[in-house]
Amino acid sequence: MILGVNVDHVATIRQARRGTDPDPVMAAPLAILGGSDGITIHLREDRRHINDRDLRMMREIVTTELNLEMAATDEMIKIAIKTKPDLVTLVPEKREELTTEGGLDMKRQSNNLKRAISRLHRAGIPVSLFINPDRNDISLAQAAGADMVEIHTGLYSNTKGDKQVGELARVIDAAAAANNYDLMVNAGHGLNYFNVSSIASIPDIRGLYIGHSIISRAVYIGLERAVSEMKALINKALLGSLVE
Ligand code: PXP
Repeated sequence: MILGVNVDHVATIRQARRGTDPDPVMAAPLAILGGSDGITIHLREDRRHINDRDLRMMREIVTTELNLEMAATDEMIKIAIKTKPDLVTLVPEKREELTTEGGLDMKRQSNNLKRAISRLHRAGIPVSLFINPDRNDISLAQAAGADMVEIHTGLYSNTKGDKQVGELARVIDAAAAANNYDLMVNAGHGLNYFNVSSIASIPDIRGLYIGHSIISRAVYIGLERAVSEMKALINKALLGSLVE
């Protein structure tokens, strides 16, 4: 199972002073040294954290997977085609949200997503869709031509007790359904050091994309260590599920 570290949160701190520190580009090699298999950045329409210069520089220095999260707009598709990330993850985007709040609206967006995916495919870029853990959305993702899906774990992460067990079951079911459709499956949003193990134990999942919890811990113990602790938890959970 791979771990992609989302370094947008470093850029968010930089933008608090609109200066140059801390530089998210410097975070990338440190995360990789800590065992991250890839770097994720979200270039938003309003450039509120990651900007075009960050994307250009990351493309030069990230030799593991560079995953570009973006909305399926004409502007972003042109930027992706020019920059050629290793993976594009299409996400819904609202100006007023603090972070991505839910998966794509697959029913409403299907045609737009299909067009975006085929433009990105023509440029040789694989595409993942950020979707809710829902079988219907998975079949729509396959019909739209996606290579992968990233299952939104926000509800799992934000609930406790029986509700969380129910949300975990939805993620497990969605991952199995995606596998049946021959879609590769990733998961992410809201995962942290306390809730990652149940998700990392799902063998159908190819990769986890995690940002906020890792960058938060890095403030105290450094990025390399924060990444390696997360990676160790993921490996332990995965190993446990294989031995069972
Ligand atoms: N995956 C997607 C599509 C996201 O938008 C985000 C948030 O930027 C993440 C994963 C990572 O979420 P978090 O920062 O809560 O770990």
